[in-house]
Amino acid sequence: MKKVLITYNMFRQGYEELIAKYDVTLPPEGVESFTYDQVYEMIPEYDALLSMFNFPVNKKLMDHAGKLKIVSNYAVGYDNIDIPYATQKGIQVTNTPDPVTEPTADQAMGLLLAVSRRISEIDRRVRIPGAVKWGLLENLGHSLFGKTIGIIGMGRIGKALARRALASGMKVVYHNRHRLPEEEEAKYGARFLSLQELIRTADVVSLNAPHTDETFHLIGEPELRAMKPSAILINTARGPLVDEKALIRALQQKWIWGAGLDVFEFGDVISPEFFAMDNVVVNPHTGTQTYEVRNEMAAFAARNIINFFEGSGPVACVNRLER
Ligand code: GLV
Repeated sequence: MKKVLITYNMFRQGYEELIAKYDVTLPPEGVESFTYDQVYEMIPEYDALLSMFNFPVNKKLMDHAGKLKIVSNYAVGYDNIDIPYATQKGIQVTNTPDPVTEPTADQAMGLLLAVSRRISEIDRRVRIPGAVKWGLLENLGHSLFGKTIGIIGMGRIGKALARRALASGMKVVYHNRHRLPEEEEAKYGARFLSLQELIRTADVVSLNAPHTDETFHLIGEPELRAMKPSAILINTARGPLVDEKALIRALQQKWIWGAGLDVFEFGDVISPEFFAMDNVVVNPHTGTQTYEVRNEMAAFAARNIINFFEGSGPVACVNRLER
C-alpha cells in the first residue's frame, strides 16, 4: 500500500478518499503541523508528500526521500519547492490552481475596497469614542468606478480579478509574460501595456504573478516612485515581488496613496512599520482562508496524488518529467 505523508493538519473531509485508498499519515490531533526535521526523519518511508505552500521541499529533503514519487503542494504557488531538482530526481510536483482562483480574487478585491474606502481604518477609529467625526469632508477615500486597474500577471487569478473590477465599473489594463489572444482581451475588456506604462498610468496596481527569479522585486523604489500619488498597490501573490523596505518608504512618504497586502517579503514576519500606518491594510496570507476552500484544496491535492498513482484522471503538474 502506498504511503502518503501530509505535513499540515486539516479537516478530514477533503482527504476521505485518500485515507480510504492509502496509508496516510497526518500530524496527530492537536498538532498543527510536522516540523521540517520531523518530515525529514519520516520521508524515506513515503511515496507521496502533501506539502503546504510554506514548507521547504529542498535538495536535502529530496535526497533523503528514496521512494518519493510525487509532491502534491497544497497551494497554487510552488516557490517553496526546488522544481529543477525535483525534475532531475524524477519527482512529480503538482499544485491546486482551481480552488484558489476565485477566493484569491475576492481577497484582492476586498483589500482594494478596504484601502480605497478606508474601511479598516475607520472601523478601528469608530470604536474609540469621539475618534471619528462625521463631516462632508471627513474620511474621504477614492472611488473605483471609472478608474483603471493594472493587473500584473493575467493568469487565472488575474482574470478572475478583472471580472470583479469590470463589475465595479473599472477599466482593465494588464501586463503578462505573454500577451493574451485578442478574443480573451475582448472578454475581459483588457488592454496590454508594458510594465512601465502600466505602473505609470494605473490607479490600482495588483500583483497576480508567481514568485520567480524574474518577478523578485518587480516593484521596487523606481516603480513606486513612478506610480501615481493617488495609486493603490495590492499584493495577493507573493511577498518577494515587492521590495518591502521601499514600499514602507513609499507609504510613509506618500509616493503612493495606499496598499493592501496579503503577503510579505519576509514570510510570516510582517514589517511592524505597516502597523503604524493607516494607508495600508494587512492580512496574514488569508487569501484562501474559507471553510469551503480549505476542503476544496485538500480534495484537489488528494486527487492529484490518486490520479497520479492510478492514471485515473487529470493531474495538475507543475514540472514535466522524462518518462
Ligand atoms: C496561496 O498562496 C497559494 O499559493 O495557493
